[in-house]
Amino acid sequence: MSDHVRIFDTTLRDGEQSPGCSMTTPQKLLLAQQLADLGVDIIEAGFAAASPDDFNAVKSIAKLVRGSTVAALARCQREDIERAAAAVEPAEKSRIHVFIATSDLHMEHKLRMRREEVLESIATHVALARSYCADVEFSAEDGSRSDRQFLARALEVAIDAGATTLNIPDTVGYAVPAEYGELFAWLRANVRGADQVVFSSHCHDDLGLAVANSLAAVENGARQIECTINGIGERAGNAAMEEIVMALRTRKPYYGLETRINTPRLYAVSRQLVSLTGSQIARNKAIVGENAFAHESGIHQHGMLRNRATYEIMSPEDVGVPRSSLVLGKHSGRAALADRFKALGHSLDEEALNRAFAAFKALADRKKEVFDADLEAIALGSSGEE
Ligand code: KIV
Ligand code: ZN
Repeated sequence: MSDHVRIFDTTLRDGEQSPGCSMTTPQKLLLAQQLADLGVDIIEAGFAAASPDDFNAVKSIAKLVRGSTVAALARCQREDIERAAAAVEPAEKSRIHVFIATSDLHMEHKLRMRREEVLESIATHVALARSYCADVEFSAEDGSRSDRQFLARALEVAIDAGATTLNIPDTVGYAVPAEYGELFAWLRANVRGADQVVFSSHCHDDLGLAVANSLAAVENGARQIECTINGIGERAGNAAMEEIVMALRTRKPYYGLETRINTPRLYAVSRQLVSLTGSQIARNKAIVGENAFAHESGIHQHGMLRNRATYEIMSPEDVGVPRSSLVLGKHSGRAALADRFKALGHSLDEEALNRAFAAFKALADRKKEVFDADLEAIALGSSGEE
């Protein structure tokens, strides 16, 4: 089994279900293609049983995407698993992702099931998923707050029923890094059959620790990280893919691990998501925020001019951020504009580019400098993207 860290993107499922981030099926298809081009190992395309629209979106993504595995989420319910299986059936590589909660709190108050009933449900539904698909992931929802011995038992039942990936979500973003990392070390040492499966992290950001927790899991043997572009997701969001990927890449001497992400495409995908959902990111957001590579103070600028490494731990090109030296104004030409649109994740056809160029010239006449945010608005208005 290869030792690279698999990137499981759930922007289209956990990300999309957060307020202000919903997407239409054509928008999801656009993003799914970008995720595949980015080199994401697994794209979680949606929760197929949620609605006919969600089912159709997952199925269309499964037909479109090549290279990445396409996954669909399912509760431990027969209908969910059948819908998920039908939706991912056309995929080149497919996965069914089955989940049920394993914490006492969730089992008692949400599921109203006893521990033994939950174990039976895992055995039945993981096996059912496995009858449709060779690649089955099992998630123990609220895993980080579950009783350890019971969690281990639940994971063993999932392995025996055919699960190939085991995910331990920090569903409510409660864990802290040393504790979450140690949980993975303990499970890998104590779950029978642990060496036959891939362990996965899935972290929410309620305490701002989702990325740190994901990295702690990897340090303790997880080889799949579930994350979203720009960290979108329920409440405070999920672990941000761009931050995880660049931490592993920039600190490779420390972690000794790689992902298969084509990092110079990160910025374009991040911008594409902003323009599809309208959900903005903070200027100082790590990796893809507008200020992430801006150096304002004189002392920093002075150091940078002598040697960029003085204040830059990665280069903007590594993540596809366009160098700021190219200022777009009324004297700029079509080629420079097309180039910047491409860097921002918009591929405009000839006609759309003509419209965009006219709008750009009109704006440049009124403004000294045209910023990326202006260009995003122009691209949307010109291409008909919604
Ligand atoms: O946060 C969570 O527990 C989830 C699972 C369904 C994987 O999103
Ligand atoms: Zn989640």
